[in-house]
Order: sequence, then C-alpha cells, then structure tokens
Amino acid sequence: MTIRSNGYQSGFGNEFASEAVDGALPQGRNSPQRVAHGLYAEQLSGTAFTAPRHANRRSWLYRIRPAAMHGTFAAYEQPRFHNDFGDGPVPPDQLRWSPLPMPQQPVDFVDGLFTMAGNGSPAGQHGVGIHLYAANRDMQGRYFYDADGELLIVPQQGRLQIATEMGVLEIEPQQIAVIPRGVRFTVSLPDGEARGYVCENFGAMLQLPDLGPIGSNGLANSRDFLTPNAAYEDVDGEFELIAKFQGHLWRADVGHSPLDVVAWHGNYAPCQYDLRRFNAIGSISYDHPDPSIFLVLHSPSDTPGTSNLDFVIFPPRWLVAQDTFRPPWFHRNIASEFMGLVHGAYDAKAEGFSPGGASLHNSMSGHGPDAATFEKASAADLAKPDVIADTMAFMFETRAVIRPTQQALQATHRQRDYQACWAGLKKHFSAD
Ligand SMILES: [Fe+2]
Repeated sequence: MTIRSNGYQSGFGNEFASEAVDGALPQGRNSPQRVAHGLYAEQLSGTAFTAPRHANRRSWLYRIRPAAMHGTFAAYEQPRFHNDFGDGPVPPDQLRWSPLPMPQQPVDFVDGLFTMAGNGSPAGQHGVGIHLYAANRDMQGRYFYDADGELLIVPQQGRLQIATEMGVLEIEPQQIAVIPRGVRFTVSLPDGEARGYVCENFGAMLQLPDLGPIGSNGLANSRDFLTPNAAYEDVDGEFELIAKFQGHLWRADVGHSPLDVVAWHGNYAPCQYDLRRFNAIGSISYDHPDPSIFLVLHSPSDTPGTSNLDFVIFPPRWLVAQDTFRPPWFHRNIASEFMGLVHGAYDAKAEGFSPGGASLHNSMSGHGPDAATFEKASAADLAKPDVIADTMAFMFETRAVIRPTQQALQATHRQRDYQACWAGLKKHFSAD
C-alpha cells in the first residue's frame, strides 16, 4: 500500500476541507472550468439534493480520474456475505454464538465477511445487515464500496487500516469506523489477523442523538469523532473494484487505484471514534435508566423516537444505586437486540459470552442476567460501589425483528445450549 495517514480533522458531520497537495482545493466554487493540478471534480451525495439543510450531506472530491472509469461489472462469488434474511418463520428463541473461527486459508476483509442476521432491505432503504468478519490478509489491489448501506465497523481483535477515498482511518478494538454508503476503501491488517462486527445500515445515516435534559455535553461528544485528512495514491496497474449493490457482490477491473482523491471538502465522509471516550451517565440514587442512556449513534426511522438502528455500548462504569438490583434487569422489549463483546466480560453473564461472540434477543423474547449473576447481585453489599472495569459490550438494536440467516442458525459456532443459562434460576417465592 502506498497510501499513508495524513492526520485527522475533529467533529461529527462537520463541513470539512482538506488537500494533500497545496492549491488542489478550489476556492470560492466547487467546479471551476479547470481544476488545479489537472484534477477532475466529482460530487458524491449521501442525501437527496433537496434534503433540509441540517440533514443534507454531500462532498466534493478532486481526483486524478473520475470514479466512472472502470471495467464492466460481473457477479462476484462470496456466498457468506449477503442480505438474504428470508421471509419464512423466525425462531423466537434466545440465540448465542461463540466467536467466528479464524480462517485457515488466506482471506481478506471482504471475503471474510459472514452475514449473521438482518432486517429490511437495501431496496426498501430501511433495516440493517449484521455481519461478522474474520480475516488474515490485506485487500491487496482490491477496493470495495457498499452502495446498499453505510458501514459501522466494530473491531474485536486486531487493528484495521482502512484507506478510503477521503483519507486513512486507523482503528483498533474499542474504536469504531463509519464508512458512508458508496465511499471506496481497502482494508489492511497491521496485526496480520483481524476479527469483528459490521452493521450495514440501509436506512437514514447514523447521527448523534439529541441529549434532552442531559444538556449540551455527554454521551459521545462530537469533537471526539475524527475524519481523515486527504491522502491519495497515484498508481496504475491491474486492480479490482468490488461493489455491493442490491444485496449482491459485483467485481470490475480498474486500471488505477480508486483512492486518487487529492483534495476534498464537504460533510459526507468517513470517521472513527474511540468508544473509551464515551461519557457514560447512570443513576446516582436507585434503579438504573433504560439502556438508551448508552446510545452512541442512531439511524432514525420515519417514526419520531423510534430508530431504524441504535448503536449502544456498555462501557466501564461505576454502579452505586441503593436498594437496587445493579446488573441489567430481566426484560422483554419491543425492539430487537443483537449484542457483541469487544473486550473483557459482560456484567449480565457469568460465562459463555466471550469477546468476538454474539447474542440475539428478538422482540418480546425474555432475557436478562443468568442464574449465577442473579444470585450474586441479589446478595451483594450495596454499601460498596461496584466498578465494572475491563469491559466493552455493544448492541445493534432495531425496531424491526432481526432475522438470523440460515448459515448463522446452522453455524458450528452457535451455542445450542444457550437457554440453559437461565435454567438454574430458583423459585424463591413464598406467600407466607
Ligand atoms: Fe436486552
């Protein structure tokens, strides 16, 4: 790879501007008759032209060759990565999986994607695809874009270098990356192996939640999101462009690196965020708030207050509530919850949910702490605060039921005995 990080700009969804070569960015107009340095001007829009100003997202790219230059697309075979969530029955069982095994053969990020579940569709422009990845090879000479959705990448093991058209993201476990729909990128693995989670958002772009009575600071703070400065590679050769379009993968030859954007400006751009920067807020009296208090980013739906996707984390935090069962309570929700763990242990499960694993609790399916956690927390000394350290769990939560794929249900890494974790909950009732 010839492209290197050129640093970052701070803020979420700002109007950014960056040039890797002095004078490449036009001033006072977007499309001059001739762009400096012989570059082509190209607009990339992420919302309708007429979206209201606060929601309007687009960027202008100044590049060595336009994105239109590539060969004809042909179907690309990667049968484990798709949006076929089926239309038959969905088991209402609680489901859990061990980590996706590392590949035995050389596999890159795109070939290492394994679709677990999802809802909605790219055609319907709502819903999500939920995928795992396990990879052990750089995308050598291969570039990818997803026309179907924005990608929220949550690494669990191994760093990722994500070189995009707009610059280079470098993330490690406990950090995330958001790649807008359509932005081309290639992934390298500085640690040789990498594993994690990807949420493909078919709906409205992820945004920071409103804070209501919390005030003007807190949760994920805007300034902690980093968007790359322009960085480019000027190389000709035999490369491959992989596109995800309407649930299927396509490939085309391309005779140059698509990462040839020398300068850009706008508010449609990739970003990264360190989850350890999250300002966790909780109860200092009794009970604990609904987990919406841990919302990092969300994709709104057409119904106010009801998200297409909520990305929620369970970070390290203190538990001090009095006369309170401190772990997560037993619950059944209208929403559906796909959980993952990127670091440490999760406080509602004594065992079985390991980093890289996943669970799925669909709408109205009962779940909560396992028997060991319940007994321990019920007897805990509440005069002492609990500190939950060394943890980072997360949830992709959606308004629509999350439909597991056939390959997820049949996977060897599925834990078919998951429901046994509640079997030991004792009957304590006595009417006396
Ligand atoms: Fe839950």
